[in-house]
Amino acid sequence: MTDPADDSSGLAGRILVLDDERNIRRTLRMVLEGEGATVLDADTAEKALATLQRSVADTLEGGPVELLLADVKLPGMSGLELLERLCELGGGAPPLPVILISGHATVSDAVRATRLGAFDFFEKPLARDRVVVGVRNALRHFKNERELQRLRARLRGGSPLIGESKPMKALLKQIAKVGPTRARVLIQGESGTGKELVARAIHEASDRASESFVKVNCAAIPRELIESELFGHERGAFTGATGQKRGLFELADGGTIFLDEIGDMDLGAQAKVLRVLQSGELMRVGGERPIKVDVRVLAATHHNLKEQVAGGEFREDLYFRLAVVPITVPPLRDRPGDVALLCRHYIDVACQENGIAGKPISQEAMDALAAYRWPGNVRELRNVMERMSILSDAELTIEDVPEDVVNAGRARPARRAGDGQLGALLSELFTAIGHELPAGGISLKSLREAVERAFIHQRLGELGWNVSRTAESLGVERTHLHKKMKLLGITRGGV
Ligand SMILES: Nc1ncnc2c1ncn2[C@@H]1O[C@H](COP(=O)(O)OP(=O)(O)OP(=O)(O)O)[C@@H](O)[C@H]1O
Ligand SMILES: [Mg+2]
Repeated sequence: MTDPADDSSGLAGRILVLDDERNIRRTLRMVLEGEGATVLDADTAEKALATLQRSVADTLEGGPVELLLADVKLPGMSGLELLERLCELGGGAPPLPVILISGHATVSDAVRATRLGAFDFFEKPLARDRVVVGVRNALRHFKNERELQRLRARLRGGSPLIGESKPMKALLKQIAKVGPTRARVLIQGESGTGKELVARAIHEASDRASESFVKVNCAAIPRELIESELFGHERGAFTGATGQKRGLFELADGGTIFLDEIGDMDLGAQAKVLRVLQSGELMRVGGERPIKVDVRVLAATHHNLKEQVAGGEFREDLYFRLAVVPITVPPLRDRPGDVALLCRHYIDVACQENGIAGKPISQEAMDALAAYRWPGNVRELRNVMERMSILSDAELTIEDVPEDVVNAGRARPARRAGDGQLGALLSELFTAIGHELPAGGISLKSLREAVERAFIHQRLGELGWNVSRTAESLGVERTHLHKKMKLLGITRGGV
């Protein structure tokens, strides 16, 4: 009989093994890792469920789980109950293939498992070949399904990035241009602006779309683990390295790796990433030969990476390798025109996810939302919409808009400024910068000077009165700023 392990495709995939018996977990890990799979394990269904929930929400480090191998008989929740919960999670069918394992399977168990959409059923004692073949089929199935979903999403058309404002259209255009290339892209922008969505959209627009997209949250991996997480390790490379492990760069081979929060990576790891980017080869921890990988690298950060380079916290050479194409995602306050679209979209999403009938939103509520500055950007908007959709009656009204949103919006009539409101705006502006609005009207020159004086003074204060940095942040020459300060009488201490 041919050894099923001879199939050259191996078992590249992430598999979660659930069994309360340590020996079974260990045996399965050995067999599957020996075939090239990455194995996670759990000894209770509750733990497995928590991992799978993160996997479905796409917040699991290293990418989603592609297959679950679960024992039926377990101390708490059983394997079949877990399968039931997964069906709920997947809206009727499990969101990933599930193979159940049983030592004392009854026919009724097997029938129930099949009804619930289990992909296969293994009986103990486990036969190696049966396991390898069954797992290979299940992984293939998962890959095909994923590809189908992608095709369907594409047919439905469009990017998941919502927005028709000018800055958003420009961003979509950049994605469309850079997507199909191999270029490394550095995505910058405030927290919650959609950097991760942009990274996924770039991957989706590339010819690697059907290959893996591996997300790494560089801020979440402890410094001492980052090298082995990224590049893998050989058996015995350090205490605790009981088996060989492929790193995230290897898992992304042929596809894309997304180094999220790259600004939080320490200098040691930066040096190692740089080496891989330069050579296209990596070395597992404790490994002896370099391994060639074909990986497209996207990175994102909410820090200002250039400032970090200037401050010595980020390697300049790595910065230039990563930022071949820099993309900045604009904050939501710079594209107020997108607020209504996003609100409507996330009301629909929240209603659907929570089994509520769709709800309209009143104009007054929408005006208040559009006048708000959204410091937490789209993430904040999404959360507010979810809360409002759940708590409101049949329609979302101004009563449902959180008080701080309404108040912050009211404090700035500018967004809704009609002619009559300009006076109010000016008076507010003058109060804000510590002046009385002159009763007899104001000249353009004095308006400009008062605003410039207050603005420069504030920025200098924020930057510790460092004139060079302030000049840079204001986009003017240092000498020009000096002149302005003199002209406007700006000194440390008083405006
Ligand atoms: N243009 C957009 N259209 C639709 N949804 C968006 C858009 N931008 C962001 N979102 C949603 O807002 C949330 C935050 O987006 P994302 O996680 O990509 O932000 P981020 O920039 O990576 O934030 P952080 O720096 O905090 O990691 C997600 O739920 C995402 O789906
Ligand atoms: Mg992010």
